[in-house]
Amino acid sequence: MSTLSVSPPSSLARRSVLTLADLSRTEIRATLDLAKELKRDYTPFASALKQRAVVLLFEKASLRTRVSLEVGIAKLGGACVYLDHQSSPIGQRESIADYGRNLERWADALIGRVLGHQTLIELHRSTKVPIVNALCDAHHPCQILADALTLEEHGIDLSSMRLAWLGDGNNVCNSLMQLTAIFGGRMVVATPEDCRPLPAWMARTSELSRTTGAQIEYTSDVKHIATSDAVYTDAWISMGENDSAAKRESMRPFQVNEATLKLAGKNAIFLHCLPAHRGEEVIDSVIDSPASVVFDQAENRMHAQNALLLQLLGVR
Ligand code: CP
Ligand code: NVA
Repeated sequence: MSTLSVSPPSSLARRSVLTLADLSRTEIRATLDLAKELKRDYTPFASALKQRAVVLLFEKASLRTRVSLEVGIAKLGGACVYLDHQSSPIGQRESIADYGRNLERWADALIGRVLGHQTLIELHRSTKVPIVNALCDAHHPCQILADALTLEEHGIDLSSMRLAWLGDGNNVCNSLMQLTAIFGGRMVVATPEDCRPLPAWMARTSELSRTTGAQIEYTSDVKHIATSDAVYTDAWISMGENDSAAKRESMRPFQVNEATLKLAGKNAIFLHCLPAHRGEEVIDSVIDSPASVVFDQAENRMHAQNALLLQLLGVR
């Protein structure tokens, strides 16, 4: 009997992951441990998704998410179909529910990158297969699972980590806030006052922090990032958002440069989900420095997503 068939199926079997908080701390732990196992050696998992198919439905552009999913699913022996919805949003040709009810007849999971989170909720409500959020306007849980793996690989303990977020209080920031809240670390979210995470996101984070004692501070004073283990930034203008010269201007003090990294502390590492806008939210000498772990994050997308999929499909 193979090692794959003797493991009891995870509690995650047939569940959807629309936000990071759809996973408990124990489930995130199990996912990260399995991701590390995969990263060491894919050989025992080469047929884990044999006869299984996953559909990717993307309303927005992607390099990392698409390629890490397609290559990752191939490494597990599964099939993957990519549906490009960049010029025809989901729900335009037929209802979201009908769309999902067709896809679930062929596919074992649907992974969506969508303009609005509600599309994922509707897909989840109308189908029985797991739905995974591959980025929406409010969340990016797959990214943050990879980031958690990267932080641990660089010796940072998730329950005592001190994170600094600089720039826009966006989807990636929101999922990182949830990770911090679930594990009990500290996070300073430094943004212009009118670019703070939405009040509903902050409320959810403080609810999640109640049991772990996580400390999340929202500030417009960059100096508050002092003594951080990691500094994270992202695009000032996200996909699907209107460009704004005024917003870009207000972001300037939140650029990650040598001075901000120094402020964070001499051992602080630098994270970015990518794509980077060099010269805007980060400068070359930071993203190309030894402190930068951005390509580890990119690689880890594949291992973390694969670990999640194996559990959602009941293989582990
Ligand atoms: N970080 C990330 O999600 O990258 P892509 O937009 O290229 O998928
Ligand atoms: N906040 C960015 C992340 C890209 C991976 C966006 O939503 O465009």
